Amino acid sequence: KKSGFRFYMEKEIYEQYDVLKENTLGRNTEYGIHFEELDREFFEGINNIIISACGTSYHAGLVGKYLLERDAKIRTNVEVASELRYREPLLTKDTLFVVISQSGETADTLETLKMAKKAGLKTLALCNVDNSSIVREADRTILLRAGIEKGVASTKAFATQVMTLWMLSNYLAKKNEYHIINEAIEVTKVDATLHEKIKRLSKRYLHGHGFFYIGRDIFFPLALEGALKLKEISYIHAEGYPAGEMKHGPIALADPDLYVVALLSKNILFEKTKSNIEELVARDATVLTISSEYIEMTDDFVKINDTSHPMVEFFEMMVVTQLLAMEVAIRMGNDVDMPRNLAKSVTVE
Ligand code: M6R
Repeated sequence: KKSGFRFYMEKEIYEQYDVLKENTLGRNTEYGIHFEELDREFFEGINNIIISACGTSYHAGLVGKYLLERDAKIRTNVEVASELRYREPLLTKDTLFVVISQSGETADTLETLKMAKKAGLKTLALCNVDNSSIVREADRTILLRAGIEKGVASTKAFATQVMTLWMLSNYLAKKNEYHIINEAIEVTKVDATLHEKIKRLSKRYLHGHGFFYIGRDIFFPLALEGALKLKEISYIHAEGYPAGEMKHGPIALADPDLYVVALLSKNILFEKTKSNIEELVARDATVLTISSEYIEMTDDFVKINDTSHPMVEFFEMMVVTQLLAMEVAIRMGNDVDMPRNLAKSVTVE
């Protein structure tokens, strides 16, 4: 079943390339984005988007906010479903309510969807499981086509969620990024040398007092996701932070036993992020940088492909952070498919 892989999580990381092909099939076309499930009429009168989700799906939603506002120029708010459902939000009818869920059964996400429907909003689900409660409830659904995800730590579902949001924002912006989308899929093919390197690197990142993942723009939600992945399966404390927030408190934790994973994009705010990394290096933190641009000052460096598009960087960095979390957890002797205290789908509050 695991086809030679040590864990389902590893298999699912390796599957991302195929799954993304499937996810974009017939949707990302040379003539632009096409969704069988949608029509332009559905978006008439929509001036805002609210995205509601939990965990990894919430992080995908945060990436969506950057894309939808920058490209499609639609105001987008992203909400943690367990908060949204109890805080009496203002739901106006010019808002499209989007829920994101791998399982389609997450209780809090489902509840917010019901709430939005009751308020008369149009609803759209991005979901991996057909005929799930969320799919049955939503007006429209875009299926993620990630296949069955067994690992409790979500990997391939996240990849398809981000990809779908990227396509949705292209669809709304009437923007054609056909080739760039294909380039982003290409870099999710796991390179054996890269995997070996991360395996070797992982042994240096076991005995610290915690991890910071830092990034700016779309790499900030990826930092949150990288940190969640690591803490779920390795039980090491990890936090994702916007790189520019370090000096507002967290940098006080910097010492050689603080591990930092820096997501350094060549294409978005390179110099600014680099100087945030320099500040951490100056305070003796142990830093691993992931970038296409080599920087000398940090302890470790993982090189990704050179590209002129941040989303291509995003997908490759995503794979690196997933492999890193997995290799650290495996070294600690953990069952990465069945982490303690967690269930694959959270159907109770
Ligand atoms: O099935 P869902 O996408 O609604 O699940 C949401 C979260 O429970 C889920 O993403 C969780 O955070 C994962 N274990 C993350 O790896």
